Amino acid sequence: MEIKAVILAAGKGTRMKSETTPKVLHKILGKTLLGYVLDNVKNFVSEEFVIVGHHAQEVEKFVKENYTNAKTVLQSPQLGTGHAVSMVCPSLENYDGLVLILCGDTPLIKEETLKKFVEFHKSNNSDITVMSTIFENPANYGRIIRESDGTLNCIVEEKDATPEQKAVKEVNAGIYCLNWSKIKPAFSQLKSNNAQGEYYLTDIISWGKNNNLNVNAYILENSDEIYGINSRANLACASKMINKRNLEKFMENGVTIVDVETTWISEDTTIGQDTVIYPFTYIEGENKIGKNCQIGPCAHLRGGVEVCDRVKVGNFVEVKKSKINSDTNVGHLSYIGDSELGERVNIGAGTITANYNAITKQKSRTILKNDVKIGSNTVLVAPVTVEEGANVGAGTVVTKNVPEWSLAISRSPMRFLENWVATQLQK
Ligand code: UD1
Ligand code: MG
Repeated sequence: MEIKAVILAAGKGTRMKSETTPKVLHKILGKTLLGYVLDNVKNFVSEEFVIVGHHAQEVEKFVKENYTNAKTVLQSPQLGTGHAVSMVCPSLENYDGLVLILCGDTPLIKEETLKKFVEFHKSNNSDITVMSTIFENPANYGRIIRESDGTLNCIVEEKDATPEQKAVKEVNAGIYCLNWSKIKPAFSQLKSNNAQGEYYLTDIISWGKNNNLNVNAYILENSDEIYGINSRANLACASKMINKRNLEKFMENGVTIVDVETTWISEDTTIGQDTVIYPFTYIEGENKIGKNCQIGPCAHLRGGVEVCDRVKVGNFVEVKKSKINSDTNVGHLSYIGDSELGERVNIGAGTITANYNAITKQKSRTILKNDVKIGSNTVLVAPVTVEEGANVGAGTVVTKNVPEWSLAISRSPMRFLENWVATQLQK
C-alpha cells in the first residue's frame, strides 16, 4: 500500500526564542531538525508534504534545495494541528493509501520504528493508529485515555484535562498513521471548542470511534525517540542523545572513540574500521572517513569531507568540503577548505588554504597532487595547483601553480645585522 508522509512544521516555536531561525531549521551536528525527520521517512514513502507557516519562505527554501521529492504546503493562519493536516486535503483528493503524520521537531524518531509502526497499523487492519509512550513526567503532552477494557477512547490535551486525566502517564507521541480515504472527512468536521481554541488533530481519535472505525495505539517502548524540541535546553539534550547513539554505532563497527564525553560525530558520517578518534573532535554534516585513520585531538570536520585510509588529521585542524587521499598527514594547526590532497602528501604545521576571496565572495579550490610536501606556515592562495612531487618551502605564500618535482619558495632572504644587539646594549 502506498504511503505518503505529512510533516507538521508551521508552528511558531515560541520557546526557542529565535528571531532569525524557524524551530525546525535549528541544527544538531550540522543537520536541521526537519532534515532528520525527512531523512527518516524518505526511504519508504512515495511523497512528503511539509506544512509550513511561520518563516514559511525559509522552510520552503530548505525543503526545495535539499529534498526534491518533498512538497511544501502553506498553512496561514496556523489554527492547530488538525487544521495543519487539513491543508493537504486538496493535494490528496483521490488518494486511497496511508498517510503517516509526524512533527518536524522530533528528530530522534528512527526509520525502523516508523516502519514497525506502519506494519502494526496494517496487521491490525487499523484505520487510525496513534503512537503513544509512557512518560514518568507526562506534563505538556496529550494524554491517551482508554476505556476500562483497555481500548482507546480519546486524547485529551493537558490544558483540557481533568486532574484525573492529568495523572495518566501514557502520552500522545504526535505520530499517526491514517487510512486516508476513510479519515479525510474528519478534517472538515473538527471543532475548535477547547482550551486553546485550536483545531486539534488529536480529535480524530474520538471522531474515528464515533464513526465505528478501527482506532488503535502503538506503544513505543523507547520513549527517547519521540523527544520533542521546544526550547534551547531541549535542543542541547537532543543533541547529546543523538550523538550518544551515533558514537555507539561507530564503536560497534570497530572505531575507537577515546573519549565519548568530548567527541561529537554526525550520523551522516561513515568511519572505517580501526580509525581512532581522539578527544574534543567535532565532526558535523556528511563525511566519509577511511580505515586506520587518526582524527584529532581537537579536529573539526565541517561536512563534505572525504578522508581515505591511513590519513592523519591532527591537533586543531579544520577541514571543509575536501578530499584527502590515503597516507596523507595534516598534523597540526591547519585549515583545509575546498581542496583535494593527493596520496602521501605532508602538510606542515600552520598551513592554510586561502579559499575565500572577500571581494568577489567566491570560493576557489586548492589541488595538491601525490607526494607533495608543504612546509610549515604556508598559505596556498586558491585557485592553485601544486603538481606531483613538488615541495613548498616553509613560510611561502603560493600564488602560482607549482610545477612537478620543483621547490617553490617565496621568502625575503635572511640577513644578519652583526653585533646589533650588543650595540643596542652598549656592550
Ligand atoms: C501536540 C499534540 C499532543 C502531543 C504532542 C507531542 C495536538 C493538539 N496535540 O501537542 O497531544 O502529545 O504534540 O509532541 O495535536 N503545527 C502546525 N500548525 C499549527 C499548529 C502546530 O504545523 O497550526 C505543528 C508545529 O509546528 C509542531 C506540531 O505541529 O511541529 C505540534 O504542534 P505543537 O504546538 O508543538 O503541539 P503540542 O502542544 O506539542
Ligand atoms: Mg510540541
